[in-house]
Amino acid sequence: MSDVRQQGEHAPADLLAEGERTRQSLRTVEGTRAAVEGLRLVNDTILAQILFALWDCGFYEYSLANERFDEKVAAETLGLDAGILHWLLHHLAGRGLLEEQDGKLGLTARGRSLSHAMNRGTFDLYVGGYGALLGNLAGLLRGDLRPGCPELARSGRHVGQGSEELAAVRVVPAVSKLLPAHGRRYLLDLGCGTGGMLMQLARIDEDLRGVGVDMSADALAQARRNAEAWKLADRLQFVRAEIGRDALSIEEDTAANVDAVSAMYMLHEFGRDGHAGILKVLGEIRERFPGRLFIFTECLPPDTAEMSTNPPSTFSQLDYFTIHPLSGQGLPLPRDEWESLLEEAGIKLVDVKMLGWIGLYVGEL
Ligand SMILES: C[S@@+](CC[C@H](N)C(=O)[O-])C[C@H]1O[C@@H](n2cnc3c(N)ncnc32)[C@H](O)[C@@H]1O
Repeated sequence: MSDVRQQGEHAPADLLAEGERTRQSLRTVEGTRAAVEGLRLVNDTILAQILFALWDCGFYEYSLANERFDEKVAAETLGLDAGILHWLLHHLAGRGLLEEQDGKLGLTARGRSLSHAMNRGTFDLYVGGYGALLGNLAGLLRGDLRPGCPELARSGRHVGQGSEELAAVRVVPAVSKLLPAHGRRYLLDLGCGTGGMLMQLARIDEDLRGVGVDMSADALAQARRNAEAWKLADRLQFVRAEIGRDALSIEEDTAANVDAVSAMYMLHEFGRDGHAGILKVLGEIRERFPGRLFIFTECLPPDTAEMSTNPPSTFSQLDYFTIHPLSGQGLPLPRDEWESLLEEAGIKLVDVKMLGWIGLYVGEL
């Protein structure tokens, strides 16, 4: 292993030549465009980090609820360092997301329209949930850090929170129609994260009850706090278990009441070593809850050739795909593979709804 290169050990760039090559490039329209593109990438990365930090500290809710606010009062109310907050807000003002009027600050129309669940969810998921991994890709690439080491660990709370914010936009409305359409009122949500889907469904239907299972203690602690805050703790319970390894420690009478089982964005995680892991978990779910309605969502993998010739408006589908092998998770699978996996596991496919590149699969266990 002595030939493994450490940080900075590769040959230095010839900056004399690079400076000249860059000047030549900047003399052309294409070269100038490429330079602007490169600089904007970094500008936007810094903006994304700043927005994530602010939103993670309560500024998302605060700036939407307070049309005009005093910076010092905001720091005090949110319990934040006033000096640091000042410079982050100054940055937002420079990017046209905040404006000052009569000594008070407020979101601009652009800042307000940027502050919504789809953006917040995407920031929470990637900047928060996978920030350590994305910030350490060079270490991973060089082999200084090993996949799965603590330095690269994902933040369960942020992944769960980001995922539930995104689900609030299209997935929850679809599931909230599906359950009553099939006469189901007791949902077991496997890989529930911070419990957002269960809580939204329980707020829509006051007769809905549910159990959420997840292996992240961090995400479940947040789920329990949120259930208390929404006064739903009497209808929703949260149980920690690693599906596929631990027995589901749900009381028998509760399990008997379960009439629908969901697994949102989770099944692909068992496909790390091929289809066998997914089939094993599907088999266990079917054996424990025969006859119940089974709902799961999975994202479609991107078609990179199509994407490069016909660029989509965002590369979220590519980002989602890329994070999976880097973080040691199973890859998102195409629709026909999910359909044949269900068939192999003896689960009857009832319906598939496509919400853009998200597949909502409905089956009977
Ligand atoms: C992408 S998140 C989705 C969260 C939630 N279902 C949603 O749609 O908002 C995947 C969740 O599955 C959980 N998870 C992954 N593998 C698991 C396992 N073997 N047992 C229990 N939970 C698991 C993770 O902790 C994470 O909260």
